[in-house]
Amino acid sequence: MMAPALRAGLLAAALTITGAQSPVAPPAAPRPPAEPPRSAQAEYMRAHFSQALVVHAAVIRGDLAAVAPAARVLADPARDAMPAGAASHVAGMTRGAREAVEATDILAAAQATARMLTACGTCHRALGTMPALATRERPPVGGVVGHMLDHQIAVDLMLQGLVVPSDSLWRQGTRAMATAPLHPRELPVDSAVRRELAPTEARVHRLATEAAQTTDPAARAGFYAQMLAGCADCHQRHAKIWGPKP
Ligand code: HEC
Ligand code: HEC
Repeated sequence: MMAPALRAGLLAAALTITGAQSPVAPPAAPRPPAEPPRSAQAEYMRAHFSQALVVHAAVIRGDLAAVAPAARVLADPARDAMPAGAASHVAGMTRGAREAVEATDILAAAQATARMLTACGTCHRALGTMPALATRERPPVGGVVGHMLDHQIAVDLMLQGLVVPSDSLWRQGTRAMATAPLHPRELPVDSAVRRELAPTEARVHRLATEAAQTTDPAARAGFYAQMLAGCADCHQRHAKIWGPKP
């Protein structure tokens, strides 16, 4: 048994320690493990990834004018920041980016973007690295915007499937795409436009179902490109709502 005086002393000590915090302060959250310092190369790669997402978003919007400046950054990477001994992969990436810069229609821009992303993936595989990529939050909204955000997350996963490269991310993305519905009656357009748009939506879903079965990187790149061109097709007709900015 502890002597009462000693117990009171310990209690007081405990109170002084906790007393340092305000009494209403929530318990301190467990501290996240310190991030390991990143190499300059890893930082550079993360910048590439953000830049690749800018190109991907411009293609999805059907905004050809925004594709070129975004892709130009990737067409001319700082050579000394790229890993050594992988010149052919760097060349594949920059070629894809250059073709995206020069593309004169959205399908060509989408195909070039897909080739570029495939080259990111082949280099990662060749050098035995499997980057962990961040995904975006899905705000809890419904309606057309909610469906669109589901689409966005699905195509982001497909992009990641190409870049990592990862079979499971590819399958996750294509399956999410195949099942994310957009009921044409929800579209904020008149019925004539709605009739025109419905087949596009159906085509995007059909492509996703087929894409889920593929394992070959080039075939996957082809599906990714067609899918993005499908998104762009609809958005371009809707330029006032969410398409290329004038
Ligand atoms: C020449 C080969 C090569 C090419 C091309 C390449 N990468 Fe990488 N990537 C690497 C290597 C090697 C690493 C590991 C870097 C490290 O951890 O130091 C890496 C890591 C990454 C990472 C993880 C960084 C981190 O946070 O640790 C991301 C993201 C990434 N690459 C994205 C891309 C994207 C997007 C492209 C194409 C636009 C691309 N990479 C093209 C070789 C390449
Ligand atoms: C059938 C036509 C159609 C197709 C196909 C389509 N979209 Fe959309 N998208 C729209 C419309 C209409 C809006 C505008 C919605 C609004 O703001 O009310 C929109 C808006 C968006 C937005 C912006 C949502 C926001 O935050 O306001 C994103 C992101 C988006 N689409 C992604 C995609 C992606 C990715 C694809 C292809 C996988 C795609 N969409 C395919 C019609 C379409």
